[in-house]
Amino acid sequence: MHSYETPNSTDKKTLYTSLLAQVEAIVSHEEDPIANMANVVAILKTTFNWFWIGFYRVDVRNNNLVLGPFQGPLACTRIGYDKGVCGASWSNNKTILVPDVSKFPGHIACSSLSQSEIVIPIIKNGEVVGVLDIDSENLNAFDAEDQVYLETLMNVITKHI
Ligand code: SME
Repeated sequence: MHSYETPNSTDKKTLYTSLLAQVEAIVSHEEDPIANMANVVAILKTTFNWFWIGFYRVDVRNNNLVLGPFQGPLACTRIGYDKGVCGASWSNNKTILVPDVSKFPGHIACSSLSQSEIVIPIIKNGEVVGVLDIDSENLNAFDAEDQVYLETLMNVITKHI
């Protein structure tokens, strides 16, 4: 059993650097993707305490995203291709930063409390196999620095999820 230490800091760089240094050691010891996704969202929640953090996985049979491990309130179980922020991240194969969800056409409000959002695609062999979705109750909660660190995190864990 691994433990996870969160630095006593509010500095984003310090928190992400520590998280990245510990995550691979944790996920590389387990081959089950769901177990690893569950621990990754737990680590993100423990570190940043965002409102909602979770994975959606591509369901190729139904051509939609299906809810995976998450931390936060009840969420939509399925999101269509190109629908909402998650579907847009999937169809565009890129991270989408939404400073104000009310200004994103087609945003899917699983909770009316969410105000800003970032969605990072998980890419295997050039194809999106899922996304990591993070929501905040505050406007403008995520920036380019979050994007860089979260994309790095996805690169680190992709082969373990
Ligand atoms: N807001 C997302 C839907 C997922 S929930 O936020 C958990 C979207 O527009 O895709």
